[in-house]
Amino acid sequence: MSALPARTAVYPGSFDPITRGHEDLVYRSLRLAEQVVVAVAHTATQKKAALFSVEERVEMIREIFAHEPRIECVSFQGLLVDFCRNRGANLVVRGLRAVSDFEYEFQMAQMNQELSPDLETVFLTPDVNYAFLSASLVREVARLGGDVTAFVSPPVLERMQRALDR
Ligand code: PNS
Repeated sequence: MSALPARTAVYPGSFDPITRGHEDLVYRSLRLAEQVVVAVAHTATQKKAALFSVEERVEMIREIFAHEPRIECVSFQGLLVDFCRNRGANLVVRGLRAVSDFEYEFQMAQMNQELSPDLETVFLTPDVNYAFLSASLVREVARLGGDVTAFVSPPVLERMQRALDR
């Protein structure tokens, strides 16, 4: 693997929806690479009841990072390793919040390493204020009428209110 700083880092996930914890990770990733691609997967390893379509998720993420040309958001079909290869990216970033994340993340990173030996996965620690935050908890709290204002950015909050009304 090249010792040069990565040109492009891919930050993949379901992002249903993107939380402030994810946003923090995106900004941290900019310290590792010139360009960060937030990649919304059509095929997630863990199946969950979706709140937003993949297209809506991409739209929200683009809106949130519209001010930063080094951040881009796209969706992808199929394997993450193929997406990274097509984008010429050799760095995948994932967040690790707690020990409970470790097994799932470690398994995925090793599988990706098997499939694509040149691809490195790095784990970043989110800001401690977001250590408890997950998109699935945010969805659940919102569905049950709780206030999620502190956990997501305004474009997401707006759409969540609309999505839960429909
Ligand atoms: O936010 P999530 O749901 O934990 O993200 C998981 C994701 C999307 C990164 C993972 O499921 C993935 O990479 N999906 C793409 C399909 C793929 O490559 N599967 C094999 C993973 S080892």
